[in-house]
Amino acid sequence: MEEPAEILSSDQVELRRWRMSDLDALDRAIYESVDHLVPWMPWAADHERQQTSDFLARNQEEWATRQAFGYAITSDAVVIGSCGLYRRIGDGGLDIGYWLHPHWTGRGLATMAAAALVSQGFQLAGIDRVEIHHDAANPASGAVALRLGFTEVERTRPPEGPVAPGEVGIDVVWRMTAGQWQARTAEQVDERAE
Ligand SMILES: CC(C)(COP(=O)(O)OP(=O)(O)OC[C@H]1O[C@@H](n2cnc3c(N)ncnc32)[C@H](O)[C@@H]1OP(=O)(O)O)[C@@H](O)C(=O)NCCC(=O)NCCS
Repeated sequence: MEEPAEILSSDQVELRRWRMSDLDALDRAIYESVDHLVPWMPWAADHERQQTSDFLARNQEEWATRQAFGYAITSDAVVIGSCGLYRRIGDGGLDIGYWLHPHWTGRGLATMAAAALVSQGFQLAGIDRVEIHHDAANPASGAVALRLGFTEVERTRPPEGPVAPGEVGIDVVWRMTAGQWQARTAEQVDERAE
C-alpha cells in the first residue's frame, strides 16, 4: 500500500483526510483551542484564516506527493482536532502528530486517533517504525505514546532550541516497531477472546 485510506475509523473517533471545504470547521476549532495550542504549536501564535487555508492546501499537496497524510479528527462528523502521518524521520519511518480541541481532551480520543494512525502507518509499503516526538515539557503528548506502548528511545536538544513558548528545547523521541505493534495487536485480540 503506497498511501493510507482517506477515512480511518476507531471506537469513538473517525479520522478523515482534510479537504479544502473544512476551512470553516478547522478555523473555528483552532480559534477555540488557541490558548491550549500556543505553548506547543509554533504556528498557533499568529493564527489567522489565511494560514488555515494554506495548511489545508499544503495537506493536499503533501498527500499527493506522499510526504504527509493529514486527517481531521472527527466525532459525529464534528471536527475536534487534527493529526497526521509524516515522512520526516528517514527511510522506513513515519512520525505522527496530533492536537485536540480542549473540550475533547481527557477521554482517550487522541490515543484512539494515534492508534488508528499507527495501524495504518504499518500497512504502508516499507514502514518498519513509527515515532512520536514532543518537547519534554509536554507530558500530555508523551502520555499518548506511553498508553500505546511506545518506548522512549532518545532525548535530543535540537539546535534551533525551543520553537514554542511552553517548550524547554528537549525533544523526546518515542518509537514503536512493526514487530512490537504486531505483538501488541495480537495480545489485544487474545484478551478480547478470553
Ligand atoms: C496532546 C493531547 C492531544 C493529548 O490529549 P489528551 O486528552 O490528554 O489525550 P487522550 O485524548 O488520549 O486522553 C487521555 C486522557 O483520557 C483518559 N481516558 C479516558 N478514557 C480513556 C480511554 N478509553 N483510553 C485512554 N485514555 C482514556 C486518560 O486517563 C487520560 O486522562 P489524564 O490526562 O487525566 O491522565 C492534548 O493535550 C493537546 O491537544 N495538547 C495541545 C497540542 C499538543 O501538545 N500536541 C502534541 C504536540 S507534540
